[in-house]
Amino acid sequence: MTGNPTCMPSASLDGVDLHALSACVPTPFYAYSADAIRRRVEGLQRALAGLDAQLCFAVKANPNIGVLHLMAGLGVGADIVSAGELWRARRAGIPGSSIVFSGVGKTADEMAAAIDAGVWKFNVESADELSLLQAVARACGVVAHAAVRVNPDVDARTHAKISTGKAENKFGVDIDEARRWFADAAHWPDVRLDGLHAHIGSQILELAPFEQAMSRLAAFWRELAAAGHRIASIDVGGGLGVAYRAGMDRPIDPADYVGAIRRQLHGFDGRIVLEPGRYLVAEAGVLVTRVVRVKAGREREFLVLDAAMNDLQRPALYDAWHDIHVLHEGGRPRARYDVVGPVCETGDTFARDRDLPRCEAGDLVLIAGAGAYGASMSSNYNSRPLLAEVLLDEGRYAVVRRRQSLAQMAENEHLPTAWSVA
Ligand code: LLP
Repeated sequence: MTGNPTCMPSASLDGVDLHALSACVPTPFYAYSADAIRRRVEGLQRALAGLDAQLCFAVKANPNIGVLHLMAGLGVGADIVSAGELWRARRAGIPGSSIVFSGVGKTADEMAAAIDAGVWKFNVESADELSLLQAVARACGVVAHAAVRVNPDVDARTHAKISTGKAENKFGVDIDEARRWFADAAHWPDVRLDGLHAHIGSQILELAPFEQAMSRLAAFWRELAAAGHRIASIDVGGGLGVAYRAGMDRPIDPADYVGAIRRQLHGFDGRIVLEPGRYLVAEAGVLVTRVVRVKAGREREFLVLDAAMNDLQRPALYDAWHDIHVLHEGGRPRARYDVVGPVCETGDTFARDRDLPRCEAGDLVLIAGAGAYGASMSSNYNSRPLLAEVLLDEGRYAVVRRRQSLAQMAENEHLPTAWSVA
C-alpha cells in the first residue's frame, strides 16, 4: 500500500478497492494480498539460490487453507505443531515430505498421525519425547527421522512472551544433553537422529542473535561430524521480524539473513530448513473494520470499532503496535483517539492516544500487519463469531473463510438433557 500512513483516501490492496470489497463482505474481516505473500516467498527463495534449502512456513502464523494452498503452489513446506496443523497442511496440498513437526507437547497420537502422513522430520525437544517417538515409530514399523531442537541460550532481544531460545525457556535441550542423545543413538533404533534445529524467538529485528544461534548450531554440527555422526539437515527456525510501524521498524534484509546462513553453515552438505511464519504473511494482511461510533470520554476520545481483541489479540497480549489507516475522502482535521473494540475489557484497546484523521460512524479503518497471528489467534470471547478471511489477487477476491454463524459458534453445545455416569 502507498500513501499517507494514516489516511488513505482510495486504498486498494492487490488491485481490489477495499471500499467496494466492504460492500460485498461485511466488516470486520481479514484481507490478505496473494501478491504480497508471493513476493516475500520468492524474495527469500531468491536469496537462498544455490543452497539446498527448504522453506517450511510456520502454519501457526496463518493456518487458513487458502493461504497454505498458495504456499504449496510456491514450493513452500510447513512447520507444524499439532495434528490440526498437520491436517490443514495436508488438505492444502503440502506434501508430508516437506513438513517438519515442532513443539514440546507432541502426543503419541499426533506422532502416529504425522508418521502416517509421511512427515519428513520431528524436531524433538526432550528425552521423554524421543523415547515416545521410538515407541511410536516401532509400533508403526517405520524409522522416524528426527532433529534435536537445541536451546542455544541466546537472547533474541524481543518481547519476553515470544522469546524461546534462552536457557530459562521451555523449548529444546541444551547442547550437553543433545550430545548425549547422539552418543546413545543405539537406544533409539527406530529413530534416525540426523538433524539439528533451533528457533530462538519471534519478531526479531537484529541479525546478531540469529548469527549467534547459527554459530552454536554450526559448531555442534562440526563436532558431531568429526565424531562420525551424519547430519542431514540443519533447521535455523523462524523469527524474522517485520515492520509493524512503517518507517520506524527496520526489519533484517533477507539477503543479510541468508548471508549469515551462508557464513555460519559454510561447508554443510545437507539440507537447510527455514521456518518463517510472520515474515511471509504479516504485512500481506489487514484487518478491515468499521467505526461503530466515536465516544467522547471525560479524559479521552474513543474510536469504537466493530473489531475487537478477540479478533486480533496482539495489542492486548503483547502491547503490540499496529499501524492504523482511516479510509475516507481526506481533508479532515486530525484528532487523538484511543482505538478500542466492543469487548467488555479495558484491554480491548488496539492503540492509545493515536493521531488519526477525525472519524465518524461508518468510516472504514484498516489495522495493518494483521496477516500473521491475527485470525490464527482469534477466539469467540464475548460470543463474537470468528471473522471472514478474504484472499485478494490481481483485482479479484476469494472468501477463503466465511464468517462463522451464531449457530456454528455454538454447534457443539447442548442443554444438559442426557446425563451420563463416567
Ligand atoms: N518455528 C517455531 C518452532 C516456532 O515456535 C515459531 C513461532 C516459528 C517457527 C515462526 O516464527 P515467526 O517466523 O513467525 O516469528 N503470537 C506471537 C508469535 C508467536 C510465535 C510462536 N512461534 C505474536 O503474535 O507475536
